[in-house]
This record gives sequence, structure tokens and C-alpha cells, in this order.
Amino acid sequence: MRLAGKVAVITGGAGGIGKATAMLFADQGAKVVIGDYNSEAGEKAAHEIREKNLPCLFVKTDVTNSDDVQALMKTAVNEYGALDVLFNNAGVSNQSVKIGEMDTDEWDRVVDINLKGVFLGIKHAVPFMIQSGGGSIINTSSVLGMKGKKRMGPYNASKAGVIALTKNAALDYGKENIRVNAIAPGVIDTSIIDEWRKDERRWEIYSKSNALARIGHPDEIAKAVLFLASDDASYVTAATLLVDGGTITF
Ligand SMILES: NC(=O)c1ccc[n+]([C@@H]2O[C@H](COP(=O)([O-])OP(=O)(O)OC[C@H]3O[C@@H](n4cnc5c(N)ncnc54)[C@H](O)[C@@H]3O)[C@@H](O)[C@H]2O)c1
Repeated sequence: MRLAGKVAVITGGAGGIGKATAMLFADQGAKVVIGDYNSEAGEKAAHEIREKNLPCLFVKTDVTNSDDVQALMKTAVNEYGALDVLFNNAGVSNQSVKIGEMDTDEWDRVVDINLKGVFLGIKHAVPFMIQSGGGSIINTSSVLGMKGKKRMGPYNASKAGVIALTKNAALDYGKENIRVNAIAPGVIDTSIIDEWRKDERRWEIYSKSNALARIGHPDEIAKAVLFLASDDASYVTAATLLVDGGTITF
């Protein structure tokens, strides 16, 4: 049990990588609070965990809304007594157009969810973590925070921003014993890439453009997040862990 007695908040935990991580964290002894704006899927994910007799709550949360995010952290502390781990994971892809054709509203939507959401998570979690003597924060970036992809401007920029903010927060809160790291997945089998699957020819190429010649599974990201969340990573902070099947070198 690598998270025995720990309380973990996971944003974007209603599906995909967040849900897989919620399941793994609960199996590893954590009390989990899922925050997501999809109530139906979020309640379902929390119910699936509770059906295994493991503690889990769902709180409807829009990560771009400061009051929502603060309420999410408060729920963890009020219901489970602490906040030890935060997985800032909620994120969206962008409309596939070049910057010149990108609506400013679309830019704001993607950057608000992917980057401001991470800022708000850190902002509202650290006071509780400081109170209890420390914690671990993991932010979801992407291999696309490290390399470009055509027609992915706001996604590329927001995910690169997550890496920079991770380093900043690690420096700001290291002395408070709060570790802050990022995870950078490659192509993972979740609903966020449904649009990409529609073009079969491109998908065939894109899904195999990595050293392992396959896409990844959400569980394969969850295991890396567990490492960063746990005391096994006690001297790891300000890092970005690529879990991309070798996409970046391909
Ligand atoms: N799947 C991939 O190939 C891949 C690769 C690199 C990075 N990522 C990142 O992983 C993270 C998780 O994505 P996923 O692949 O599991 O996709 P997903 O669509 O299954 O999960 C994203 C979750 O975020 C939630 N969400 C979106 N906007 C929100 C908001 N404003 N407030 C609260 N919740 C919100 C969604 O409801 C959903 O449950 C994202 O940050 C994504 O950018 C995914």
C-alpha cells in the first residue's frame, strides 16, 4: 500500500487517465476525492471505487472556477481530514486549426482549463498542505508541452506552461516539503483523442509514431503518477516525467 492513510484530490477524474489514477490510488490505500465538471461520469467513477469498499467522493468542479476549486480542496480536508496529494489532471484538446484561424474564445477555453486550472489547483491546495507539513502535487502536461504539433497551438502552449509552472511551484514550496512534478504522457487511449481516430490513415501513422509502436493505456500513466505521489519519489521535485513510449525521440 504505497498511499496508505493519504488523502488525494484528482481533477478530471471522471474518465481516462484521471479515473485510472483514482482507481489505483484507492487500491493503494488513499482516500480519493474526484473533481470533474462531468457529474454523471464523476459520480459513476466514485461509485465504482466505493463498490470495492474503498473511500471515494465526487465533487462537481470546474477547474477554471476559483471558488469551485477551493471548495474541492475543502471537501477533502473536511471529509477526510487532510490533503496530501493533488493530481491536477483535467484537460482538453483544441479545435484543429492554425493560429490564424483560431477563435480567441477557443484559445481562452483551452488555456483556462489546461493551465489556469493547474494554477488554481496549486493555489488552493498549498495552504492545507503547509498546515499538515507537506504534500505531493502532480500536474498533467504532455509530450506536446515539449514538442510542437500542427494545429495544436493552445494545447502546445498550455502544456508547456504547465511544465514551467511546475518548476516555479516546486521552487516556491520546496521548503514547505511540498514536491511538485509534472507528467508528460504520449498518445494514450482515452476519449480526448477521439477526434484523431476519425482519420484512419493518419491515425494508423500517428498511433504508431513512437519507439514501442503502439498507443499507451491510462493505467500506464497512473502507475507513473503513483510513483510521483508516493514517498518513493521523496527526492523528486520540479521534474517532468515523460511517459510517452518514446514519442519524443521518434
Ligand atoms: N490521452 C492522451 O493522449 C493525452 C496525452 C497527453 C496528455 N493528456 C492529458 O491528460 C489529461 C487527462 O486527459 P485524458 O486523456 O484522460 O482525457 P479525458 O477526456 O478522458 O479526461 C479529461 C477529464 O477532464 C475533465 N474536464 C475537462 N474540462 C474540465 C473542467 N473545466 N473542469 C473539470 N474537469 C474538466 C473531463 O470531464 C474529463 O473527465 C489531460 O490534461 C490531457 O491533456 C492526455
